Amino acid sequence: MKLIPVKNYDEMSLKAADFIAAQLMEKKDSVLGLATGSTMIGLYGELVAKHKRGELDFSQVKTLNLDEYIGLSSSDVQSYGYYMKEYLFKHVNMKEGNYHIPCGVCQDIEDECRAYDFLIKTLGGIDLQLMGLGVDGHIGFNEPGESFIKDTHFIRLDETTIKANARFFEQEYQVPKHAITMGIGPIMASKKALLCANGKSKAAILKKVLTEPVSPLVPGSILQLHPNLTVIADEEALSEI
Ligand code: GLP
Repeated sequence: MKLIPVKNYDEMSLKAADFIAAQLMEKKDSVLGLATGSTMIGLYGELVAKHKRGELDFSQVKTLNLDEYIGLSSSDVQSYGYYMKEYLFKHVNMKEGNYHIPCGVCQDIEDECRAYDFLIKTLGGIDLQLMGLGVDGHIGFNEPGESFIKDTHFIRLDETTIKANARFFEQEYQVPKHAITMGIGPIMASKKALLCANGKSKAAILKKVLTEPVSPLVPGSILQLHPNLTVIADEEALSEI
C-alpha cells in the first residue's frame, strides 16, 4: 500500500485528479471504476478543469460506477446517475454508451446484477478503481456483514449509512433503504485501487480499514490485500493513525 498524506480536502482532490490523469496518459482507453459521495466532488471538479485546459481527453475512456440507490432513476437529483452527469460526464468528452451505472429502477434487480458483472468482464475488468469510504467501512455499498460478497448485489443499507447520507436529502426518511452495488470481486481484481478519505468523521474507520485485521465487518479492510492500493487521505482522516 502507498499512503499519500495531504493537508486537506483541496489537496486530496488535486492529488487524486493527478493520479487519474496519470492513468489516462498511460492508457487513454482506461476502464475507470468510479465512486460518488462528497469525497469525490472536488476531484471530479479538478478532472473537469484539466479537461477544459486541454490536458485530459476522455474520448476513449470507459467507466463503471460502483453503486446506485434502488428506486431512483438517473433523472432523480439524488441518484448517483444524476450526480455523475452533473459533476463529471456532462463537462467532459466522454462518449454516450461509454459510462455505466448500475440501474436502480430495473424490473428484475437480479438480472441487472448479473448483467453488470457480465459488462465488467466484457470491458476486461477495471484498470483503476476509485473509492471513498463509508463511516461504517463500506466501499461502494458493500456493507458490513458475515462475509465479503464477490459479485454485484442488492443490499439493505445500514442504519449508519442511511444517517450519514441523509445530509444529501431534505429528510432522513427520503434516503432509499436499498442499493445495488458492485461486489468485492472486481474491486480486488482492479489493476490499481485508489482510496480517498477526508475529514474527522472518517478518522476512526480509516484506522480500522488500514491497520486492523481484514474482516467483512469492515469491508474496506479487504483493500489491505489489494496488490496495488494507493490511499490519499487528509490530516483529519489520518488523525487516529
Ligand atoms: C456512499 C457511497 C460510496 C461513497 C461513500 C462515502 O454512501 N455509496 O460510494 O464512497 O458512501 O461517502 P462520502 O464521500 O459522502 O463520505
